[in-house]
Amino acid sequence: MRLAYASRQLPRMAWYAGHLYVMRRLSEHIRQQEGEDTRSKSRSDSRIDRRLNADMAALLKQDLANIEAGIYPLPADRDGSLLTLLDRSRLFFRDLAEVHERRKRKATREVLNDSTRGRRPDYYLQNFHFQSGGWLTEESAERYDTQVEVLFRGTANAMRRQALVPIAEVFAGRDQRKLSLLDLGCGTGRFLDSVKQAWPRLPVLGLDLSEAYIRHARRHLEHRSRTNLVVANAEAIPVPGESCDAVTSIFIMHELPPEVRRTVIAEASRVLKPGGRLVLMDSLQQGDEPDYDGMLERFPQYYHEPYYQSYVSENFPAIARRTGLTHRDDTKAFVSKVMVFDKTAD
Ligand SMILES: C[S@@+](CC[C@H](N)C(=O)[O-])C[C@H]1O[C@@H](n2cnc3c(N)ncnc32)[C@H](O)[C@@H]1O
Repeated sequence: MRLAYASRQLPRMAWYAGHLYVMRRLSEHIRQQEGEDTRSKSRSDSRIDRRLNADMAALLKQDLANIEAGIYPLPADRDGSLLTLLDRSRLFFRDLAEVHERRKRKATREVLNDSTRGRRPDYYLQNFHFQSGGWLTEESAERYDTQVEVLFRGTANAMRRQALVPIAEVFAGRDQRKLSLLDLGCGTGRFLDSVKQAWPRLPVLGLDLSEAYIRHARRHLEHRSRTNLVVANAEAIPVPGESCDAVTSIFIMHELPPEVRRTVIAEASRVLKPGGRLVLMDSLQQGDEPDYDGMLERFPQYYHEPYYQSYVSENFPAIARRTGLTHRDDTKAFVSKVMVFDKTAD
């Protein structure tokens, strides 16, 4: 198992870490040409790098331990053929120059125009990560997973899989065909893919505000049964109250303004059955790992993340409590964490 795991994960990580390396060198080169000081790494940067490497290794060890414990099967990341991978790399690298320009101009609202205004909430119509198209275009959806995997050095899926652990706890010993899971802000469907690898007959619903991302998710998950994907707002989930056994939200809480976060968590609580479980997975917060606090502070300036600063100091257990959810625990996974909440059983 160890060998099979390593033979799948290590080349994948090398591929995305290679992209990160090239991206950093390109950015350094451009900044030097623009007369910026690109001083060499400080001692503290090298210490953080060592810490990141150690935490990444701990994540892989945990991922493998979960597989060996039978919590989920040996994962297939399903990144696509070599041609697809190369094409996504091309899209990724091609956007870097535009990202750089947007960052310099602090241009964050290019996706707000006459054809989009009013069709999506105002907070949503931004060039998150300074990327072209924000969440709105086919190219953005095609590029998204490469961007995320590059940012996390090929461990994004491994981090997402850590959210399967608390779900496995509540699903244990139950007939998966009679349960249901709802993924809020499902994006291109990578987390739902892991869910379906673990529970192939589980009915799942993925919801996202982006038509392009939902189309991509439909293609990615087309061979999966009992999988429904809809364009909808997580602030008004189009399913009846008390109808889901598990609700998940992966890497979306930091994208939402504080008041919207509260509405979405209240909605998740509404649709959960008594005894159901909400799993929120997202970035670490301030104070979780003091070594990373500086990095968390710099992140939203480099990648346009307008609500990240409020996210890192948000009190999720308190928000959840007000909606009838009890905080169970948090588990750290590299630079993210899995927060678990239960709806009181009647
Ligand atoms: C950072 S991505 C995370 C996607 C995915 N969960 C993952 O694991 O990569 C954030 C996603 O949340 C979606 N989103 C943001 N606000 C939303 C809302 N109010 N309702 C539904 N989806 C939303 C975006 O369209 C985008 O696909």
